[in-house]
Amino acid sequence: MTFPNVRLRRLRTSSAVRDLVRETLLTPADFIYPLFVVHGRGVRNEIASMPGVFHLSVDQLAAESRELVSLGVRAVVLFGLPAVKDAVGSENFAADGIVQQAIRVIKDAAPELVVVTDVCMCEYTDHGHCGIVRAGQVINDETLNVLQQVVVSHAAAGADIVAPSGMMDGMVRAIRQALDGEQFSNVSILSYAVKYASSFYGPFRDAAQSPPQFGDRHSYQMDPANAREAMREAQLDVEEGADMLMVKPALAYLDVIHRVRERFDLPLAAYNVSGEYSMVKAASANGWVDEHKIVLELLTGIKRAGADMILTYHAKDAARWLND
Ligand code: PBG
Repeated sequence: MTFPNVRLRRLRTSSAVRDLVRETLLTPADFIYPLFVVHGRGVRNEIASMPGVFHLSVDQLAAESRELVSLGVRAVVLFGLPAVKDAVGSENFAADGIVQQAIRVIKDAAPELVVVTDVCMCEYTDHGHCGIVRAGQVINDETLNVLQQVVVSHAAAGADIVAPSGMMDGMVRAIRQALDGEQFSNVSILSYAVKYASSFYGPFRDAAQSPPQFGDRHSYQMDPANAREAMREAQLDVEEGADMLMVKPALAYLDVIHRVRERFDLPLAAYNVSGEYSMVKAASANGWVDEHKIVLELLTGIKRAGADMILTYHAKDAARWLND
């Protein structure tokens, strides 16, 4: 059967028919909204390179959480900016660290909101690397001990999901062991399993004040040219006990999202990262693209590629547009 018997335009004749046959549905419940938490009171400072995204102090988080819930966004991912940075990133695992405080306030204000914490060292260390540094090298296995302390402190504060993003070998296994050893076996691990050494993180490094002070991240984050290696990264994390996988960034890696989706049955997240966000905001501010339409098209594309959930700075705007 072919034309003229087959006419694909028949299923595009009205908006109602198009709604019936649509394959990919985007909803606010797909989104995980990143929050950047800072010390101080009454702080709500817009991040210059990420219009519409703010540094928030802890006292702002109750209202922010309730707003997210009212929009239908059900999850946040927390990043903290510590008061002081040092070689091991001490505030990262302090009981009263900025993220630990934030978790408690959010869980108090909106208990139903899922709290995911980013687990990494770069925001907390004076050298800006995602691990312990010795003689200019990032030392893998010693870093695991620190990550274990971090996840236990996040779990103790009430985090639902911990998301290790430092691309250390064995991080998922070490974290699972630490959580289970402290009776946090209900806390899930969302592994940044496939994370590329990407230039799309530029604006985030402003937001988190976390650029490496020497060198780059190529000895731990993946080469953007590799997709088979992504399968090995995901496989290892599955074997180590990850509950969910992530691919990051999203837009230049839709093929990788698709491949991970085909190969693994774990829930899959994609991170629509800072550079992807800022490019859309800049083009929209210039009137070169229609922000509303382009954002929903991009997020739909990420979901169509195979992501079940999307970490995105567009979450609040996209939720409003979807709710309209
Ligand atoms: C921490 C971390 C980074 C991002 C999320 N977690 C920065 C990096 O790896 O350099 C990037 C997020 C974004 O760009 O939106 N390791």
